[in-house]
Amino acid sequence: MKSSISILSSKNRLEYINELNYTDCDYIHVDVMDGKFVDDTQFSLNETKAVNYVSNKLLDIHLMVDNPINFVNNYKGYKIEYITFHVECGKDINKVINKIHKMGYKAGLSIKPKTDIKEIEEYLSKIDLVLVMSVEPGKGGQHFLKDTAKKVKQLKKTIKENKYDVLIEVDGGINNETVKLIPDADIVVIGSYLLNGSNRYDYKRYIKKVVCK
Ligand code: DX5
Ligand code: ZN
Repeated sequence: MKSSISILSSKNRLEYINELNYTDCDYIHVDVMDGKFVDDTQFSLNETKAVNYVSNKLLDIHLMVDNPINFVNNYKGYKIEYITFHVECGKDINKVINKIHKMGYKAGLSIKPKTDIKEIEEYLSKIDLVLVMSVEPGKGGQHFLKDTAKKVKQLKKTIKENKYDVLIEVDGGINNETVKLIPDADIVVIGSYLLNGSNRYDYKRYIKKVVCK
């Protein structure tokens, strides 16, 4: 299982990335919000540029936006592994997937907790990742929704049966306990858990080994 660290709730994001550069985490998870798809606005183009500059880890971009194509176009030549957008945006899904691939990145589709996996089945042969939300998108620090475990299991079964080359990432409320509920996840996003109390320091360098094994 790989780890992608959400820097959303950090008070000093660039300083935090500097610390994460020395840990065993795999990706930096960047939660881009447009104030429309979700209420909040986060990670302006300038800030994302700075994140890309400071990080020596590959970026895992999570677009919580109404119009993903406008955002994707801005990330040329970045150190990005995945750009993921929401199927619920309902716009130009195939066009956005193709654009992300053309730019040399892997493409992900995300589903909100109440969205059935059937909504993304037609895209599974075209994408590299499904980001299953285990909280309502929009803010960090929420509790993991237990129904996610079933969804992940079901999705894994579909992927296996059809031999799709797609990874599953789970995002929201992940900690050292909830991670055990989703053994089929390939990547987990870890946000506020690492920033709470002494966890940041306890798990320094060994996030992956300690939290997601
Ligand atoms: C929620 C974001 C998540 C969030 C994860 O909208 O997509 O990436 O920051 O943070 P925690 O782990 O605090 O739920
Ligand atoms: Zn996210």
